[in-house]
Amino acid sequence: MLNRLEAQSPDALLALIKLHAADERPDKVDLGVGVYRTGQGDTPVFAAIKRAEQALVDTQESKSYLGPEGDMGFVNALMPYIFGTDATMGGRISGMQTPGGTGAVRLALALAQRAGMERLHMGTPSWPNHKQIIDDLGLELAAFGHAKADGTANLDAVLAAIRGAAPGDGVLLHGCCHNPTGIDYAADDWDAIGDAIAETGIFPIIDTAYQGLGEGLEEDAAGLRSVLAKVPEAFIAYSCDKNFGMYRDRVGAFYIMAGEGESETLNTAFSNANALARASWSMPPDHGAAAIRLILRDRAMTEVWLDELDQMRSRMRQVRERLAEAGVAGGVDLAPLGSQNGLFSTLPVTKEQVVRLREEHGIYMAGSGRINIAGLTMDNIEKFIGALADVTG
Ligand code: LMR
Repeated sequence: MLNRLEAQSPDALLALIKLHAADERPDKVDLGVGVYRTGQGDTPVFAAIKRAEQALVDTQESKSYLGPEGDMGFVNALMPYIFGTDATMGGRISGMQTPGGTGAVRLALALAQRAGMERLHMGTPSWPNHKQIIDDLGLELAAFGHAKADGTANLDAVLAAIRGAAPGDGVLLHGCCHNPTGIDYAADDWDAIGDAIAETGIFPIIDTAYQGLGEGLEEDAAGLRSVLAKVPEAFIAYSCDKNFGMYRDRVGAFYIMAGEGESETLNTAFSNANALARASWSMPPDHGAAAIRLILRDRAMTEVWLDELDQMRSRMRQVRERLAEAGVAGGVDLAPLGSQNGLFSTLPVTKEQVVRLREEHGIYMAGSGRINIAGLTMDNIEKFIGALADVTG
C-alpha cells in the first residue's frame, strides 16, 4: 500500500532551518523562518514565561486531561487583549485553545467547510501554510493580489473580491503584520473592508499571529475590532507563538463571534469545533497555555511580558528604519520597509538571486524573497544591504 504514495518535497520554509544549520560559515545570516531574534541573534525564552513555568513546576497539581477546548482560563484571559474591554462583545464571542496558530487556522477552515463554505478568498502572497491547509481540506482558493507595487495594500483588490463573492464564500484576512509582506491595511481600509463584508455577507476569517509585533498590542488589534463591530459572524485564529515566544510549545486559540442574541448558535458552533478538535488532536498541549494563563492573571508578570514585547517591537522598528534609510540597494528599493509591520517583508528578488544570496553570501531567506526582519542585527545589516546590492545590481 505504501508504494502508492508519491514523495512530497519538504516544506520549503522548514527545510531552510536545516540548510542554515548545516552551513559552517561563521558570518551566515538567517532570515528564514519567522522567529524573533535579539540584537545578539538569540531567541531566548521570555523572562515572564520562565517565571510562569517555575510557578507551574511549584504549583501544578495534575496533568490529567482537560478536554478538546483546552485551558479555558488561558483562552478567556487573552480575550481583552484581542477584543478590547467588552471582550465577549456582549456574549457574542467565545473561544477554545488550539495547538498553535496553525491548529486555529485548520479548525477555522474545517468548521467553515462543515458549515457549507466551499470557496475561500485570500490575498496572495500569503503564508504558504494557508494554501496547504486550504488544499488539504479540498476548499477552492480564490486568490486576489494583496499588495501594490509601491509596497502598500491593494484595497481595491480585496473589496472587489468581497463584492464579487458568491453566497457561502469566505475571506481570509491577516489581522496585522501581514505574512509574508509586512503590508497591513490602514484604518480606513479596514473600515471599508468591514462595510463590504457586512453588505455582501461573505464569511470573515481573521488570522492574527503577530499581535504586538507591529505598532503595539492595541494598535495591532484595531483592524480586527473594526471588522467585528460591523459584521454578524466571524472566526478568529490566534497564535501566541511569536508574542510570547512559545513557538515549539504550540499555543493558539480559536474564537467564534456569533450574531447578537444567538447564544444557541454559538454553542452549536462550538459543539462542532470540539468534535473536529477531538477527531484531529483530541486536546491541545497544555504547558504553554497554562504558563500564559499565569502571566495574564498576575499583574507583575504581565508587566514583564509587556516590557519584553515592547523591546522586540522597538528592535524591529530600528532594523526597519536602518533598511529604509539605506534606500536603494542594487535593484531593490528598501524605503517601503520602513512603513511595513512585523517580522516580515518581501523583497522583489528572483529565485536565482535568493540562491546567490545563500551560496555566495551565506544569507538565508525564503524562495519568495521574504525576509525575517528580526534576523538582521546592527552587526550584519550592512553585510545584508551590500550582498543585496551585489546580487541585484
Ligand atoms: C513563518 O511563517 O515563518 C512562521 O509562521 C513559522 C511557520 O510555521 O511557518
